[in-house]
Amino acid sequence: MNETETMSKHSFQNTLYSNDNLYVLSGLNSGWVDLIYLDPPFNSKRMYSAPIGTKAAGATFKDMWTWQDVNEHYLNTLAENYPELTQFIASVGRIHSKAMMSYLTYMIQRIIEMHRVLKKTGSLYLHCDPTASHYLKVLLDSVFGKKNFVSEIIWSYAWGVRTAKRWNKKHDIILMYAKSADFTFNSNDVLEDRQSSEATQKRLKYKGAMTTDWNKGRGTEKLALPTDVWYIPTINAMSNERTGYPTQKPLELLHRIIKASSKEGDIVLDPFCGCATTCVAAQQLDRKWIGIDIEKQSVKILIDRLSDDAGLFKDFTATYQIPKRTDIKEIAPSESVKQRLYKQQDGKCNGCGQDFEIRNLEIDHIIPKAKGGGDYYENYQLLCGSCNRIKGVRPMEYLRKKIEVREKMLNDKIFFGE
Ligand SMILES: C[S@@+](CC[C@H](N)C(=O)[O-])C[C@H]1O[C@@H](n2cnc3c(N)ncnc32)[C@H](O)[C@@H]1O
Ligand SMILES: [Zn+2]
Repeated sequence: MNETETMSKHSFQNTLYSNDNLYVLSGLNSGWVDLIYLDPPFNSKRMYSAPIGTKAAGATFKDMWTWQDVNEHYLNTLAENYPELTQFIASVGRIHSKAMMSYLTYMIQRIIEMHRVLKKTGSLYLHCDPTASHYLKVLLDSVFGKKNFVSEIIWSYAWGVRTAKRWNKKHDIILMYAKSADFTFNSNDVLEDRQSSEATQKRLKYKGAMTTDWNKGRGTEKLALPTDVWYIPTINAMSNERTGYPTQKPLELLHRIIKASSKEGDIVLDPFCGCATTCVAAQQLDRKWIGIDIEKQSVKILIDRLSDDAGLFKDFTATYQIPKRTDIKEIAPSESVKQRLYKQQDGKCNGCGQDFEIRNLEIDHIIPKAKGGGDYYENYQLLCGSCNRIKGVRPMEYLRKKIEVREKMLNDKIFFGE
């Protein structure tokens, strides 16, 4: 498929990208997506892996964060555009831990891109838990604007072990932000059945919701306007829905979000799609979808799931390619681009961080052209000759790893007096 075609509504194809979502998001046009749901790893410092024998066997994903996960180029951009936020993240490094600081830096780069690709009427749901929800909310406040915070949804469930030593954790948090006050919300499509769950019944009893104006005279319909506390069971061990993919979310949860915040034909994006629950739910509700996951295993599971659950996977493209934006002008690398970058980078190489004269720095594509990186300003950086040769057409992670190893060797030499 021609990648730029995915940008046009007419030739849109539901697409699963197997790549880092930062790269894929950077390749999507601005103001293009109607709804984003993301369920990123929670910084829980462990590797998840799927049990052998399940549909997802072999899938592992990283839930451990170190400074290496952070693309330093984006940190520079961040300091320029969000100076307070950069300070906030650095403070979290002291208040909480370096790992949390790295996690937030990793997340903020992606949140900025997600905000950019959302339509004016769009909204974003970030699924997290109390480990980092308070920090993530600050990030969202500063990128979306605090006035665009809509809801903190409590997803409550009964699953998991219990202890007598403390309150047992039985909920996740879903933070909802809108791009503007003009966001889509179809409350009538997500009315609550008063009998549907124990939690709903209790809440109605406590709050006396039966007497609110809206509910007056509707008693016989047994429906109420939706609230921000949802009781939805986790996927049962015997359920057909279960793929075995670690942290798989129930379809019912995604149906609720998609029905409330999008219309038929809208584009739903999940940048951490795992076993593609969001994509399947979107397909079932006649929305278009884009899923992104760094794990190649996702593609396989999605093909199985769509043929099982939705049976419509002829509309679906799986690719490793990064899409190319068609809404910004390409600028060929030039002397004026170089001067602008030199100022932005404070005269330093973006790899080794050392000071250089402008004539000793070279323009490099952050996402290599060979990997779909475009000729636009946001994709340029300056590297010294040595860093540029090491990096070649590889991603920045490769260069950073090399520099780290080189520094370690130098330190060892100093330490051992060689
Ligand atoms: C908590 S799981 C999502 C589960 C999903 N909601 C479901 O129902 O299956 C997080 C996912 O994020 C993916 N992931 C982590 N870092 C990523 C990145 N940089 N780009 C794309 N996907 C990433 C992991 O591979 C994992 O599948
Ligand atoms: Zn360098």
